[in-house]
Amino acid sequence: MYVTDCLCGGTGRRGRLKICCSQERAGSIPARGTIRILLDQYLEVVLSKTIALTGDRPTGKLHLGHFVGSLKTRVDLQHTHDQYIMIADTQALTDYFENPQLVVDNIVEVLSDYLAVGIDPELSTIFIQSQVPALCELTMYYMNLVTVARLERNPTVKAELAQKDFGKSIPAGFLCYPVSQTSDITAFKAEVVPVGEDQLPMIEQANEIVRRFNRIYNTQCLKEITAHLGETKRLAGIDGKAKASKSLNNAIFLCDSPEIIKEKVFAMFTDPDHLKVSDPGKIEGNVVFQYLDAFYPDAKEISALKTQYQKGGLGDTVIKSLLNDVLQHLLQPIREKRAELKRENLLDLCFDGTKKAKSVAEKTLYEVKSSIGIDFFEKCNFYQRNH
Ligand code: TRP
Repeated sequence: MYVTDCLCGGTGRRGRLKICCSQERAGSIPARGTIRILLDQYLEVVLSKTIALTGDRPTGKLHLGHFVGSLKTRVDLQHTHDQYIMIADTQALTDYFENPQLVVDNIVEVLSDYLAVGIDPELSTIFIQSQVPALCELTMYYMNLVTVARLERNPTVKAELAQKDFGKSIPAGFLCYPVSQTSDITAFKAEVVPVGEDQLPMIEQANEIVRRFNRIYNTQCLKEITAHLGETKRLAGIDGKAKASKSLNNAIFLCDSPEIIKEKVFAMFTDPDHLKVSDPGKIEGNVVFQYLDAFYPDAKEISALKTQYQKGGLGDTVIKSLLNDVLQHLLQPIREKRAELKRENLLDLCFDGTKKAKSVAEKTLYEVKSSIGIDFFEKCNFYQRNH
């Protein structure tokens, strides 16, 4: 019996709590032990913070796109939410199953980036996806609730397929990764997912699975999810391509050296028709202005610069130098903090987080199985639930 089976409410008097059974259960009076469990669950619900979850595939170092899309939000959310951050090595293997070492090596890189931007393992539960087997089990049950056609239509998957050139040989693991992502989120009952705009179709698909599951199995055990977009929804690549990405080699990494940052800023796509300083320039598609919008603290100043640029009389070198200064200032402390980290024992930092994640996900898996009706050996403590 769960707290969701009951109506719980304060009586208005301090220290008293009234627990009533829902109508279907009104005939049976719960035993004293049951009331204790219900009380614990009630307190858990009342005292708990909203849960947030995100993750990154460990396929390389993180870049400015990650920073504005979600890392910055995570640093804030860790103070207000119960936040889980997952290193998605299982998902990374859908791309790199033939080169697992790359995934393994990049776990420490991603972890270093987290710590360098200010994610604190004391405040956020950081864990490694592959060490939480309940996630795979959930995926298996959710896969029945989505069609291959729907997966192929998912715009994020579609965009990635276009880049990858699989032809007709799409690995099933790759195609199903939105389903596995649904498991990652629902396993922790996360309601908030801080992501970049490109991940919105993922959240939509996850919510479809959540709603289908709850309807088919007549339960409320899975929670619907809200995407939490960063201030800058999508950061363009330095070449002007739609998205900054590791695979397109058009991103500025959080650990790039001052020289590389400068080089990348000065190589940025601006307006190919803006040949002389006196020429009027275009803002639309101009990557330097996009980055200034995202990183320069004074929006008014940028707006004045844009007007001047459009009129003519403002050279690319001036705006590039300005952006270079801003980015150097932003990235210097991050790079320094990253360099100070002792990489040998970084993995230990997510041991406790992974243990906690494992136990929380197992609890949800149990609820999922009992909603389906396949919790056969519950009476003999088969499931080792920690609650
Ligand atoms: N797809 C994300 C990335 O490409 C990683 C990820 C896996 C994720 N599971 C998730 C993000 C759940 C948000 C929620 O980096």
